[in-house]
Amino acid sequence: MSLKIAIGGKGGVGKTTVTALLARCLAADKNNKVIAIDADPVANLAAGLGIPEDEPITPIAELSELISERTGAKPGTMGGFFTLNPKVDDIPDRFSKERDGVKLLVMGTVQSGGSGCICPESTILKALMTHLVLYRDDIVLMDMEAGVEHLGRATSGSVDALVVVVNPGARSRNAAHKIRQLGQDIGIKNIVILGNRVRGPEDEELIRSSLPDFEILGFLPEDDAIVSADRDGTRPFESDIQKAPKELFAVAEKLRSYDNQ
Ligand SMILES: Nc1ncnc2c1ncn2[C@@H]1O[C@H](COP(=O)(O)OP(=O)(O)OP(=O)(O)O)[C@@H](O)[C@H]1O
Ligand SMILES: [Mg+2]
Repeated sequence: MSLKIAIGGKGGVGKTTVTALLARCLAADKNNKVIAIDADPVANLAAGLGIPEDEPITPIAELSELISERTGAKPGTMGGFFTLNPKVDDIPDRFSKERDGVKLLVMGTVQSGGSGCICPESTILKALMTHLVLYRDDIVLMDMEAGVEHLGRATSGSVDALVVVVNPGARSRNAAHKIRQLGQDIGIKNIVILGNRVRGPEDEELIRSSLPDFEILGFLPEDDAIVSADRDGTRPFESDIQKAPKELFAVAEKLRSYDNQ
């Protein structure tokens, strides 16, 4: 199955936690091939996936040799000639770390010239994103920062859904409107709300009523096991993802219905 999902939301609402849990949950079905993309400059998806920190992962944007080899230009250089469609199709398998059927790819950030620059690093990242979204026959989950900068216009039309994670708090609910606008501006079709850290029916109602014109994907409860795993620096539900709240599996199931809609 091929499913391309971007996960956004205000800072700290649980994007990384939710991305990791959904990835593990979807990979529990051995028929699914799952790629989790850390597109946040402060990468921390590895921890949620239980990928040991003693094997640091070099972000793609920092693989200077690979970037030079593929684009024909050294990272950090501007101007000059380099190819705008470098080969990237082997990168997901060669440069990801895998655990429990989830492959993690850490994108990293482009240092020079801002996000709009055309340089070898940004060219590789863009080509890789396009490859992952348009041409991979996998489930791809992308942990984005609040903005959706990594998704270019060419790519975003093929994203099956942008999941905006919100907490019951007013600020994250307000941010949802802005993120939806950004998503719509670049052409994402389905933009849906996932309530996270919900403590009961009142919280669900608050989210529903304050975001009345949004489609709601589901609600995940505030969960003590997630809090204590975070405190201990381990991944939640270490031994068995099936111990995760049942709502998580319901959300994963619903996401699958966005495939090629
Ligand atoms: N359902 C939940 N129950 C309990 N704690 C949660 C839940 N979801 C997330 N958290 C906790 O909330 C905190 C923020 O989560 P996380 O890092 O996933 O957010 P984020 O949106 O990725 O943040 P950032 O914007 O900094 O990348 C973490 O301490 C995490 O353990
Ligand atoms: Mg995060």
